[in-house]
Amino acid sequence: MGRILLTGGAGFIGSHTYVELVAAGHEVVIVDNFSNARRDVIDRLEVITEAPVLFHEGDVLDKRFLEDVFRQHDFDAVIHFAAKKAVGESVEQPLLYFQTNCTGFATLLGAMKDARVFRIVFSSTATVYGNPVSLPCAEDHPIAPLSPYAHSKVTCETLLRQLKESDDRWAYGILRYFNPAGAHDSALIGEDPNDIPNNLMPYIAKVATGELPHLNVFGNDYDTPDGTGIRDYIHVVDLARGHVQSVNKLIDEDDSHVLNLGTGTGYSVMDMLRSYEKACGKELPYKIAPRRAGDIDCFFADPALARDYLGFEAQRGLDEMCRSSWNWVSRLRNR
Ligand code: WQD
Repeated sequence: MGRILLTGGAGFIGSHTYVELVAAGHEVVIVDNFSNARRDVIDRLEVITEAPVLFHEGDVLDKRFLEDVFRQHDFDAVIHFAAKKAVGESVEQPLLYFQTNCTGFATLLGAMKDARVFRIVFSSTATVYGNPVSLPCAEDHPIAPLSPYAHSKVTCETLLRQLKESDDRWAYGILRYFNPAGAHDSALIGEDPNDIPNNLMPYIAKVATGELPHLNVFGNDYDTPDGTGIRDYIHVVDLARGHVQSVNKLIDEDDSHVLNLGTGTGYSVMDMLRSYEKACGKELPYKIAPRRAGDIDCFFADPALARDYLGFEAQRGLDEMCRSSWNWVSRLRNR
C-alpha cells in the first residue's frame, strides 16, 4: 500500500475517499482549509476509521505550506479534491474559480515536482462535456465547457497532459464525476452544504427535514418520460472506491488514464423525489418552477471504460443514495 496526500480531504467526496483509502490499507494525510467543510469532520473520520487522522490545515495556494507538508511526509501519490465546484457561483466569480482551481492546482503540482512526487488523481467533472451530442456519454465525447467552473477543470486537465508530455515521470488519473449523491453508511459523514443547496439531493434532504418548505422542480417540459431533468447519480461511496482503484493503478503501474465515474443509469427529478419519500416515510411537497438557465434534458454516463480498465462498477442505486442521505441529515439535525 502507499502514503497518500488528500487535498480537500475534509470535504464531501474527500472525506468518503479518506475512509475507503484507510480501509484499503493506505496511510493518508489530509490537507484542507475548511472553507467548505466543518472541522469536526476530522473527529468523525477518527470514529469511523477507529484511528487518529493526520491532517494539516492550510491552502493549496500557499506554496510554503505545501512544501512544509511534503517535507514531513514521503508521499507515493496525491489525490486532489481541494477546489470550488458550484457552476452558478463560477459564473458570478470566474476569477475566484481560476485562482482556486487552476492557480491552486499549479501550486500543488509545483510542490509535488520539488518533492519528486509524480502521481496524481485529479477530481474532474462531466460538465467538461457541456451539452451532450450523444448519449450515453463516453470519454471521447467532445469537450465543450459552458461555465467558468467547467473551463477551470478543462484547463487543469490540459495542464496535466502537457506536464506529462514535458516529463514522463508524471502519471495521472483524471476522474470525471457525474452527479455524486448519498452519504456514508455510518451517517457520520455526508453532504453538508453551508447555505441553500444548488444540487437536487441536498435540497430535497432539507425539504425532508423541514428546513425548506418545498422542492422547486426546475421545469417539467423536458424531452424525458416524466418531463423532468434526468441525471446520472452515483453514490459517493462508489465514487470514493473508484478513487482508490485509480490511485492503486498509478502506484502499481504508473499508467495514466481519463475515466468517467457514473452508473450508466439516469434518474429524473421525480424519480429522486419519490425515492426520497420512501426513504423518509413521508410525502414531500414540491412545485413546478421555471427551467433553470443552462440545464439540459438528459445526461448520463457510458461507464464501460472505468469497468474495463479499473474493474470499477457502481454498486449502489438511487434508493440507497436516498436512504443514506436521509440517515445522515436526520442524524445531523439531532446532533
Ligand atoms: C440535477 C437535476 C435540475 C435542484 C451539477 C453541476 C455539476 C456537478 C453536479 C460538480 C437537474 C434539477 C435541481 C433543484 C431541480 N457538480 N433540480 N430543483 O445541474 O446536473 O450538475 O451538480 O461537478 O458540475 O452542474 O445537478 O443537482 O443541480 O440538478 O429541479 O432545487 O435536478 O434541473 O435536472 P446538475 P443538480
